[in-house]
Amino acid sequence: MDVSGKKALVFGGTSGIGLATTQQLVKLGAHVIALGRDESKATALPSSATFKQCDVRDRDALQSLFSESGPFDILVSAATGGSRAIGKFSDMDMDGYMASFDKLWGYANVVRYGLDHLSEHGCIVLVSGSPARRCGPGQVALSSVGGAVEALSRAVAKEISPRRINVMSPGLIDTPMVPLQGQERAAHYERLTGNNLIARAGTADECAQGVIFLIQNDFVTGTTLDVDGGILLS
Ligand SMILES: NC(=O)c1ccc[n+]([C@@H]2O[C@H](COP(=O)([O-])OP(=O)(O)OC[C@H]3O[C@@H](n4cnc5c(N)ncnc54)[C@H](OP(=O)(O)O)[C@@H]3O)[C@@H](O)[C@H]2O)c1
Repeated sequence: MDVSGKKALVFGGTSGIGLATTQQLVKLGAHVIALGRDESKATALPSSATFKQCDVRDRDALQSLFSESGPFDILVSAATGGSRAIGKFSDMDMDGYMASFDKLWGYANVVRYGLDHLSEHGCIVLVSGSPARRCGPGQVALSSVGGAVEALSRAVAKEISPRRINVMSPGLIDTPMVPLQGQERAAHYERLTGNNLIARAGTADECAQGVIFLIQNDFVTGTTLDVDGGILLS
């Protein structure tokens, strides 16, 4: 797909991986609408991108938004959705576990209602995460949700061809999702990535390059691209 002149919607496009994707799409000449709940994050957007407020869990709002914004060629969701339950499954608060699935419900809503307005040769990219296929202790919720996102994408791919859907799976990436600052932040990433094949946190830009590849390559569908510094082998 030649991205230039195409219309793209990026959910979670105001921060981290979604913001980097918005920036790279704009550089390639796409018309980008970045979506999120908090309008104050829109200040980070490139001047030619448009911000629209939306919570991916609100199905009515999503349907209205798609009706007023469609048709479009590119649909990306990197929206984290809600909370993430971390901790031993035997001690798990089940409300917290279920709430982690807001990410899946958000993605499912975006795909389900976005498809009605996605152009004939359009494509979708979702974002999972390395715990889907290699999870450490305490990551049962992350693994369950990530695995479901990848399964959703593979299953939908069969129904929508020749339109395409793929997943980009990040490893540990330095984004605002982790609220730590300074030395504490550096120590956090050092501790969690020190034994990886590429022993550092990835950047949002490196992940966005993966998303752009999945958009541009017309022969790729129903797959997951790992941008994770080799964490699956570490
Ligand atoms: N960073 C990592 O290490 C890592 C690792 C594995 C997987 N991932 C996955 O990668 C994706 C992007 O993460 P990130 O690190 O880039 O996070 P981030 O910097 O926190 O950005 C998250 C974006 O999603 C938006 N968002 C969150 N909940 C939303 C909702 N309910 N409705 C609409 N927008 C919503 C946020 O804006 P508002 O808050 O304003 O809505 C923000 O724009 C997520 O799916 C995350 O699970 C990240």
